[in-house]
Amino acid sequence: MTDDDHSPDDSPLPSLSSPHDRDPGHPPAGIRWATRPETAADIAAVHAVNAAAFPTEAEADLVDALREDPSAWLPGLAYVAEAPDGSLAACALLTRCLVAGEPAVALAPVATAPAYQRRGAGQAVVRALLDAARLRGESLVLVLGHPEYYPKFGFVPASRYGIRPGFEVPDEAMMALVLDGSAAVARGTIEYPAAFGV
Ligand SMILES: CC(C)(COP(=O)(O)OP(=O)(O)OC[C@H]1O[C@@H](n2cnc3c(N)ncnc32)[C@H](O)[C@@H]1OP(=O)(O)O)[C@@H](O)C(=O)NCCC(=O)NCCS
Repeated sequence: MTDDDHSPDDSPLPSLSSPHDRDPGHPPAGIRWATRPETAADIAAVHAVNAAAFPTEAEADLVDALREDPSAWLPGLAYVAEAPDGSLAACALLTRCLVAGEPAVALAPVATAPAYQRRGAGQAVVRALLDAARLRGESLVLVLGHPEYYPKFGFVPASRYGIRPGFEVPDEAMMALVLDGSAAVARGTIEYPAAFGV
């Protein structure tokens, strides 16, 4: 969970009460997103969130395909954020990829249901997922995404580490986050799980 989120005071969405709500010296608390690993019971809702967040079902189908690939799927590294009413607001996934043959993880996709976007659910689920990856000893995370969104988690252009995808993308969109600064960072080309089709 995170309590540093905010939402407008006129939010139609429910929010949990907290001691801060009774403290006139403290700003009202935002929505508290409960983050946790995905369970089998979440699979349909995760598909639905991805299908709603992206223009097509491609990302939703990608998640389902990754789940079927034991060389890519990392049990415990698919996370969801629940709204206070228990509905699934956001989801994020790390799967195994390689950089120059060395193991790394790819963050994709990240999705927040349209009704909950820009209320901190995406940040909550990404932060929880990255914490879980760090605790499991993962050392390098790669993401291809909005260059305005991911730097807040510490991502920098992957090219700074000499890491590139095997296809053309704007340099700033391919980003890397080193979780374990004590390990040498592999340089080279990213090899994605087959389901990505790249
Ligand atoms: C991108 C996405 C995952 C962000 O999740 P979210 O829950 O909406 O975002 P958060 O509330 O955690 O973060 C909000 C902040 O992130 C930034 N942000 C959110 N979406 C962004 C986007 N698409 N591009 C750039 N910055 C974005 C904004 O600065 C925003 O701050 P603001 O409230 O001051 O405007 C979500 O909007 C989404 O699912 N979008 C459609 C699918 C998608 O593009 N997925 C990411 C693929 S890389």
